[in-house]
Amino acid sequence: MWHLKINLSTVFFLMVLQGAAVVLLFDWYLELNSHGPKPPNDKVQVLLLSSWRSGSTFMGQVFNQHLSVFYLMEPAWHVWNTVFKPAGMLRMAMRDMLWSLFQCDLSVMETYLPEHPNISALFKWRDSRALCSPPACSFTPQNPFVDQDKCEKRCNVQGLQRAQNACNTYSHVVLKTVRILELESLYPLIQDPNLNLRIIHLVRDPRAVFQSRENTWGLLMGDDYIVLGQKKTPADELPYRVMQEICRSHVRIIERAFMMPPHFLEGRYKVVRYEDVARNPLEEINSLFQFVGLRMTPELENWINYMTQGKAARRGGFNVSSRNATNISQAWRSTLPHDKVKRVQEVCREAMSLLGYRTVNSEEEQKSLEIDFLLPSELKENLGTD
Ligand SMILES: *[C@@H]1O[C@H](CO)[C@@H](O)[C@H](O)[C@H]1NC(C)=O
Ligand SMILES: *[C@@H]1O[C@H](CO)[C@@H](O)[C@H](O)[C@H]1NC(C)=O
Ligand SMILES: *[C@@H]1O[C@H](CO)[C@@H](O)[C@H](O)[C@H]1NC(C)=O
Ligand SMILES: *[C@@H]1O[C@H](CO)[C@@H](O)[C@H](O)[C@H]1NC(C)=O
Repeated sequence: MWHLKINLSTVFFLMVLQGAAVVLLFDWYLELNSHGPKPPNDKVQVLLLSSWRSGSTFMGQVFNQHLSVFYLMEPAWHVWNTVFKPAGMLRMAMRDMLWSLFQCDLSVMETYLPEHPNISALFKWRDSRALCSPPACSFTPQNPFVDQDKCEKRCNVQGLQRAQNACNTYSHVVLKTVRILELESLYPLIQDPNLNLRIIHLVRDPRAVFQSRENTWGLLMGDDYIVLGQKKTPADELPYRVMQEICRSHVRIIERAFMMPPHFLEGRYKVVRYEDVARNPLEEINSLFQFVGLRMTPELENWINYMTQGKAARRGGFNVSSRNATNISQAWRSTLPHDKVKRVQEVCREAMSLLGYRTVNSEEEQKSLEIDFLLPSELKENLGTD
């Protein structure tokens, strides 16, 4: 008996000792593997930050169709269209909205919606796969490619609570916006230990953007007014002034991210050019997925191939349809008059130089398609400094 007693207490002592060792080792392991504060869960928040007519609808859809993603397209639209003040005055309202949405708090939207809103009160709600499938909507199958008409009929439930609960079940919350024109207002989100934010900054050749904007003139008038902050501008100058503001915003963001970036930006920001995606869609999108911790699926791979190598020559407004992406990214060279090309190059010189878009010096150069105006990008991943 005595013998057994000794043995039991020895075993107990050894177990305590072992437990302590495990705890110590685990702490040490965490220490080794943590760079900065770790979020309390594995969730990742992705801000797809872009500008008008830069391929962000397509890129948003790439994320939207992933079954791990809760996606909302352009929630900040509500801020701009409800408050309708110069962009600078809306920054903090947008920041707070994104902050709440990233934490799956959809009640923040109620400020901008009618009382007792249906889910359909959310801008472009049918474009969100997550809002059109379980658990947000029990009447439809869980499928990367939703039937939008069916969604419209069956998923338009009252209140945002179901959508909010659904949001909590996803590992990734992805929000797309063209309305954030600087990076600084996002710093508190990047530093928030409850979030694990990644920013994907999607840019495009300003000449192509300008040409695409010309096709959608009218649709962007309200936004242009907000971008310019009510500055009086002659009508024929307006498109160039807006383009200038957009290009300046890219320069501001890129300078923040690459020239003496704050340490907390490290590994959180990535810039991607639309043209690189058009040329190597799978490679570029795989690298973005890796950046945010998503796995590529065969269905998505097929869809991307279909969308970027399709035959359809043009699309209307903001619809995503199958097109030859390489061809489309060059369309400005044949359709945009040379004098306009020159003006855009003037107002966007700095952005073009930073992003690696070579300027055109003559109409002949512009039209000869053997000259490549896309230079290798020098903007690799940013590495914050201390
Ligand atoms: C709101 O949703 C309810 C079902 O929850 C539906 O009966 C009603 O028609 C919807 N209203 C609108 C304006 O879509
Ligand atoms: C976009 O597609 C929807 C149906 O998918 C259609 O009703 C709408 O007219 C299209 N918009 C444009 C501008 O082509
Ligand atoms: C897309 O367009 C590019 C250039 O215009 C061409 O080289 C390529 O073969 C086209 N691809 C398809 C699938 O049509
Ligand atoms: C794009 O493709 C169309 C037909 O497929 C062709 O006519 C056009 O020249 C092409 N444009 C460019 C810039 O390659």
